[in-house]
Amino acid sequence: MGAFKEAHGGTLKELYLSERQADEEKDRAKDYRSWDLTQRQLCDLDLLMNGAFSPLEGFLGREDYEGVCDAMRLAEGMLWPLPITLDVSEEFAEELEEGEVIALRDPEGVLIATLEVTDIWTPDRMGEAERVYGTSDDTHPAVAFLKYTSNPVYVGGKVRGVEPPTYYDFKLLRDTPSELRGRFRKLGWRKVVAFQTRNPLHRAHQELTFRAAREVDANLLIHPVVGMTKPGDIDHFTRVRCYEHILEEYPEQTTQLSLLNLAMRMGGPRETLLHALIRKNYGCTHFIVGRDHAGPGNDKDGNPFYGPYEAQELYKKHEEELDITMVPFKMMVYVENKAEYVPADETEPTDTILDLSGTEFRRRLREGLDIPEWFSYPSVVNELRKAHPPKHKQGFTVFFTGLSGSGKSTVANALMVKLLEEGSRPVTLLDGDIVRKNLSSELTFSKEHRDLNIQRIGFVASEITKNGGIAICAPIAPYAATRRLVREMISPLGGFAEIYVSTPIEVCEKRDRKGLYAMARAGKIKGFTGIDDPYEVPENPEIVIDTGELTADLAAHRILLMLEKLGYIR
Ligand code: PPS
Repeated sequence: MGAFKEAHGGTLKELYLSERQADEEKDRAKDYRSWDLTQRQLCDLDLLMNGAFSPLEGFLGREDYEGVCDAMRLAEGMLWPLPITLDVSEEFAEELEEGEVIALRDPEGVLIATLEVTDIWTPDRMGEAERVYGTSDDTHPAVAFLKYTSNPVYVGGKVRGVEPPTYYDFKLLRDTPSELRGRFRKLGWRKVVAFQTRNPLHRAHQELTFRAAREVDANLLIHPVVGMTKPGDIDHFTRVRCYEHILEEYPEQTTQLSLLNLAMRMGGPRETLLHALIRKNYGCTHFIVGRDHAGPGNDKDGNPFYGPYEAQELYKKHEEELDITMVPFKMMVYVENKAEYVPADETEPTDTILDLSGTEFRRRLREGLDIPEWFSYPSVVNELRKAHPPKHKQGFTVFFTGLSGSGKSTVANALMVKLLEEGSRPVTLLDGDIVRKNLSSELTFSKEHRDLNIQRIGFVASEITKNGGIAICAPIAPYAATRRLVREMISPLGGFAEIYVSTPIEVCEKRDRKGLYAMARAGKIKGFTGIDDPYEVPENPEIVIDTGELTADLAAHRILLMLEKLGYIR
């Protein structure tokens, strides 16, 4: 069994079948109905099967669920803070029967486990939100999940594990409880204090964890969550590279790093208890709990959902039963005159305390400004800078829109050449005609097809932008809603500037380079933009250009100045 700490409930419950049994189960599963697991369910199933969720033997049945929601207790009385449930669609549940065995598959169709159905019920999901998270305000990520993402029917039953979900990243850092217990045993670690995190670690965290370990005379496990964290968090690839750097700053042999495939709910105090139980199942003896642990942020009115020390208080109440000791987090502050971090309550009135808020840190990162070494290690800052380059290193899209013959292509070409001359990034021109030829050759000029055409352009531009390049798009893009969609798709990935080429239709028609206006007037082309198909004028473009009044050269120059003003070129 465990190195030195029993699992919750006494035994570590690994739910995997033996190799032979798994082969047989795979064979039988061909006849089972299959449920395709969501990302959250795959994380939950992983931790069920590897024993991190001991003593659970499957997704909760109804009686356990009610007990957990109301009193944090499984039907048999054991402490369990959050419902671990399998939510399925109505269609799937319709013909499902109790006693039936279903196949649980990953998104590629690989059989991960089977589940013997004992309970099928339609929960009151908003009631669950109130009972578990104490709110139905959907600014709480777990409430939003229940309201908008989860499926309406729950299925409970025992899980038979066939094979662990495949992860291709950081394989050596992903451990099951028994693997980590084995490592602790091998290292001769008797006491281990675990640190849970979903953020990159800076010097304050390093000092804090190191102090915590020293205080309780234990070794340290940095145990970050890589399953699902709060939407908007820094991606785990970047974070793990940061953790690997900071690990080098701990005294050798004292600290281990392992990744936890947990899907966080941001459930505050209740989730804190789950975090502690998981670490106990991993063989840890102590668990660090800070201010607002697993906190979901603020509610609709800007007030925190939970008190800053509510998690610590709930932990205290159940500490004996949890059987893993809490090490309460002390705020660490940097004292300049001592050139070290100390707990906030140990500073002296004469001390000079330096502070850098999270918001200021992110601003400096975003704008490529200096980040002091007392705040974070240069190796960590470097990783974060790579993932969040300043604007002049991010990709961006310049999206032209305007009537046929308005001069979009000419200005777009001039701009492309100037950006190539500037040379900071690769440039791709997605001109209307080029796209129609290469990407949308089967499309007509119906509203539906025009929208599809613009969405395709938006998709390609978003990929270019995401990867740090410059995309110049120059379609007519006559409809405002579709242009807005493209803006929304690209803006989170880099820069976006809409250029409205406002050349009046009279001018365009007079130019009529391709003779299309004449044909449209003669009724030989139907649904021509500006003639018998609408052009919706952009309401908030970054810049408006009338090529009746401006040469292409000057127009491109103006756009360059605008991009410089926005910070995308220097
Ligand atoms: S859209 O609406 O954004 O999908 O249009 P786009 O892909 O930019 O294609 C516009 C070019 O197609 C030619 N063309 C038409 N334009 C508008 N309406 C109709 N019915 C039409 N039929 C053909 C026209 O040459 C456009 O080229 P540009 O370069 O804009 O003049």
